Amino acid sequence: MNDRTNLVDRITGHRRMRRNRKAEWTRRLVQENRLTVDDLIWPIFIVPGSGIVQPIDAMPGVNRMSVDKAVDAVKQAADLGIPAVATFPNIDMALRDEAGSNSLAPDNLINQATRAIKKAVPNIGVITDVALDPFTSHGHDGILRDGEIVNDETVEAIARAAVIQANAGSDIIAPSEMMDGRIGAIREALDASGHQNVGIMSYATKFASAFYGPYREAIGTGGLLKGDKKTYYIDPANGTEAIRDAALDVEEGADMLMVKPGLAYLDICWRMKEAFGLPVFAYQVSGEYTQIKAAAANGWIDGERVMLETLLAFKRAGCDGILSYFAVEAAKILAKR
Ligand code: PBG
Repeated sequence: MNDRTNLVDRITGHRRMRRNRKAEWTRRLVQENRLTVDDLIWPIFIVPGSGIVQPIDAMPGVNRMSVDKAVDAVKQAADLGIPAVATFPNIDMALRDEAGSNSLAPDNLINQATRAIKKAVPNIGVITDVALDPFTSHGHDGILRDGEIVNDETVEAIARAAVIQANAGSDIIAPSEMMDGRIGAIREALDASGHQNVGIMSYATKFASAFYGPYREAIGTGGLLKGDKKTYYIDPANGTEAIRDAALDVEEGADMLMVKPGLAYLDICWRMKEAFGLPVFAYQVSGEYTQIKAAAANGWIDGERVMLETLLAFKRAGCDGILSYFAVEAAKILAKR
């Protein structure tokens, strides 16, 4: 035996993983995944009125904006190279009712925002949700009858809302309410009204999660919601059921799939990408954002590094992109690299 062979070489058989990590330039050469601005979708909150930029207590750094201010912010996002925004309305309480009927008003807040954004910033994608929760007096995503969220009637309503959103200029309909049969119904309704080019990004696997808390403050549903969403969102314990649910969305014509929340569900991202090969997106939801911001504000973690690490983790888990409240902050950092 070569007497220069030391203990570790005998153990590793001369395979040393650290050789590729020895310098910044080798690390750059072997880096498997990269985060770029092309990966980012920015969710924004819209309020009625004008000139309004209103901080959200539970989401430091995130504001509710009136349509005019949102347009300015979206322009900045487009200048940074962010490909798309996802809009969420916080409508007047007086407009909310049992059936969420304002979701069908062609000039409601979400459609006003779409029209204004597409007019001022035509090159950014607008993704709109058709769930009823911003419009219902009970904060549920569907129509509530005798204590039950009724599936089929809700599907009819959201398919109609999808067409109205597409008429306003929405590029991608993203249904987040987890009703059965919704993807097929939305596709049929869009096609029947000449919207063959409007895509569907399914919130394919949306879990009944505690991470949505700050979002409910943002759109004003926190105090309204009676009970929970466990009869329609997926149990966080169930991975195989999530993949079966996503498979139905793929069959029904989804163009893109989403996993929500994000970081606690990276296994689902990976399984979805492997199973279907469709573009997969993760939604890094409000509670995930808030955790990082709160810890960073206390000086307990390096907020910027943790943000970038989480965004990169989604890429490693097979995601094509991430919906994140960090999108603008991350895009600014990426622009400097
Ligand atoms: C509801 C909806 C939710 C989010 C977006 N649309 C969850 C909910 O309130 O049940 C959550 C987004 C976030 O937490 O950032 N259709």
